[in-house]
Amino acid sequence: MKRIIIQFGGTGDLAQKKLFPAYEHLLGNGFDFTILALGRRFKDREQFVKSMVSKDASEQFLSRLEYLYYDMGDPEATVPLQRRLEELIADADEVELIYYMALQPSLYEEAIKQIQHVDAHLGCQCSLAKKIVVEKPFGFDLESAHRYNDILLKAFDDREIYRVDHYLGKEFMQNLLILRFHNDIIRSIWDNRSIESIQIIFDETHGVDQRLGFYEQIGVVRDTIQNHIMQIITYLTMNEPATLSPEDIAIEKVKVLRSIAPISEFHTGRYESLGANSGHVVHTPTYAALKLSVNTYYFAGIPIYIRTGKMQKEAKSLIYVKFRNKTREVMHDEAIAENGVIITIHPELTIDISMNLKQPDTSWKSKPVRFRFNQAETFGANTPEAYEQIVKKILQGDKSLFPTMREIAESWRIVAPMLENERHMEVYPVRTLPKFATDLSQEHGFDWFD
Ligand code: BG6
Repeated sequence: MKRIIIQFGGTGDLAQKKLFPAYEHLLGNGFDFTILALGRRFKDREQFVKSMVSKDASEQFLSRLEYLYYDMGDPEATVPLQRRLEELIADADEVELIYYMALQPSLYEEAIKQIQHVDAHLGCQCSLAKKIVVEKPFGFDLESAHRYNDILLKAFDDREIYRVDHYLGKEFMQNLLILRFHNDIIRSIWDNRSIESIQIIFDETHGVDQRLGFYEQIGVVRDTIQNHIMQIITYLTMNEPATLSPEDIAIEKVKVLRSIAPISEFHTGRYESLGANSGHVVHTPTYAALKLSVNTYYFAGIPIYIRTGKMQKEAKSLIYVKFRNKTREVMHDEAIAENGVIITIHPELTIDISMNLKQPDTSWKSKPVRFRFNQAETFGANTPEAYEQIVKKILQGDKSLFPTMREIAESWRIVAPMLENERHMEVYPVRTLPKFATDLSQEHGFDWFD
């Protein structure tokens, strides 16, 4: 079978930083495909390779990497694309074309039209299969997401559409399900009888940098909250699926999302970008702090506090599950700390369970200590990157790591109030936690897990 990944956005940041390294590893691990990168930034392959590909790239990867100058605005753009594809598939009996759209959502409609055109005119004496991969955010809002989906469904079957949220390819996400559903002791404490609150913190040190053009149209809500954060919440709070099949997991995820009301408590801000991004001012939210809850029988009443965004002092990604502390009352000792589960994604993948044990040389004084799992120490440092997992599943035709349209639509419904209020932004100095994030914690009487 001859497989070709047609990379729309082939000269973009995502292709360069994440997709090309993932392709290179997969080729090195026995997968077989050709990449046809499309872009406008370079006239020819030589310039493209020089600027876009690491100097250490393997010969094998380079031999599979093709480039085509492609201007989507040109009405004749599909002609050379079709011709190049015909050259690449000449003599093949079985062909699979994988269209990978790493594009601004505003370009989807045009790209899909062009794909349909190529598809309808491609000359090939072969059996032809196709897939389309669409990066997040899927649309700008609920309405546009449905519109894009309708357009996609005119050209592809739903089973051929892969909607990417690379967080589902991350080891920590998959581990959340294993932690919850393969451990009796965790199952029995993982609900509102034992959990007091949950925090999700995703602070990044970088700004919007070279992605300014893309990010300006997106902002933090579309960039991470509608997708990565919502997916994390489903994994943290869904009921046990009947099996770990994609269909059964999707059923449980949708139940979680449907039980989250549109977010009403939130604040957004943008960093003071003078001096950063070569003087360009970012006019879109780059940080948000919010509270929501999952109104299912087992999770209702647990506040979930979220903060996420750019240009922070420290890169920190973690989930903190704080347990109720009845012991303090029962033992008449205010010094007894609560138990917690801390899942740290950055800087290192670790899971800590915080418990109280005796401080030596005291009379019945306890101290919180942590029982730690460290992914790299236990399983080695070479966990595949999320994108490698994602691309591997696409090649294998396995949809277990991809959100369904239903999940995406529910997520847009949940974040809609945040999108409507995007203009009300505070400005925060770079490398500081925006004041509204501290205010949120004070209003609700909790401390961020810093
Ligand atoms: C991407 C966002 O989806 O996720 C970026 O577009 C963000 O803005 C990134 O920095 C975070 O992903 P990771 O894999 O680095 O945690």
